[in-house]
Amino acid sequence: MKIKLPFFIARRFVAAETLAGAIPVVRRLNEEGLHVTLDRLGEHVYDRQLTEEITDTYIHLLYTIEQEKLDATISLKLSSLGQMFDLELCKHNLGRILKVAKELNNFVRLDMEDSSLVPSTLEVFEHFYPEYPDNVGPVLQAYLKRTEQDVRRMCELKARVRLVKGAYKEPPEVAYQDMDVIRQKFIAYMKLLMTEARYPAIATHDDVLIQATKAFAAEKGIRKDDFEFQMLYGIRTQTQRDIAREGYHMRVYVPYGTDWFPYFYRRLRERKENVLFVLKHLFRA
Ligand code: FDA
Repeated sequence: MKIKLPFFIARRFVAAETLAGAIPVVRRLNEEGLHVTLDRLGEHVYDRQLTEEITDTYIHLLYTIEQEKLDATISLKLSSLGQMFDLELCKHNLGRILKVAKELNNFVRLDMEDSSLVPSTLEVFEHFYPEYPDNVGPVLQAYLKRTEQDVRRMCELKARVRLVKGAYKEPPEVAYQDMDVIRQKFIAYMKLLMTEARYPAIATHDDVLIQATKAFAAEKGIRKDDFEFQMLYGIRTQTQRDIAREGYHMRVYVPYGTDWFPYFYRRLRERKENVLFVLKHLFRA
């Protein structure tokens, strides 16, 4: 039995259940000087026809961004495009989206999911990168032990990478578990991407990592236009504005859609304060 939870419990982290509801949120963020990346929520889709419908939704989203003159790119999960059962179908679907992204001069970020999906995600990325170097980029997770090699490869390609800590529960064989080690790795990869890759996105709410990035950019004379910070919708909103006011690019990841539970659950797992926030508002509602 599938239980549908009421949307208001996720409202802090998810902009709306529909695109029409998400547009005013994006506009408001843009007016505050924040860039956006829009994610139409959905993952682990096993139905061929549904992957094609999701592809159409993303194409529609790209045209809507253009028509509404929003400052927004898109983020998507390949597991919603057929990655779980037919990689050729997944490539076909992503190829349709990238064609439109190029036509509209937009950018598609391939979110990174659990470690079993990393090899095929990077394979799909490399398949398209030569044709779409300005329109597609992967995410690398600092907690994975394989990531050093992936960072070096992305530096060789001069690819546009989003660097994150990593949000999935992974075993010690594949991922570092200690937060200090993950932070050290994040900083080392940030430095490589800032100097050897192209326009990296440093995606974190962690002040230690934000300060390290600012200090490194200043020390090396890296311009504020040559990288960006990213944060999630609903998390550290004042800090998002403050960083933008300092003249850095700050992009907010704005998820929307009815399939919000897995995303919402990852946010709760990350931080006990997020659970407390939701509980507090549940009892207030
Ligand atoms: P974390 O939650 O570890 O907190 C560390 C420190 O940051 C805290 O101790 C505190 O100092 C500060 N802090 C955090 N939240 C705060 C708050 N609300 N108020 C005050 N201080 C706070 N993951 C993935 O696996 N694949 C992906 O594709 C993506 N994509 C993605 C995009 C974007 C834009 C972001 C920001 C993140 C992701 N992630 C992700 C998620 C990422 O891997 C990670 O799980 C979360 O960002 C949480 O880690 P942080 O480094 O942000 O801070």
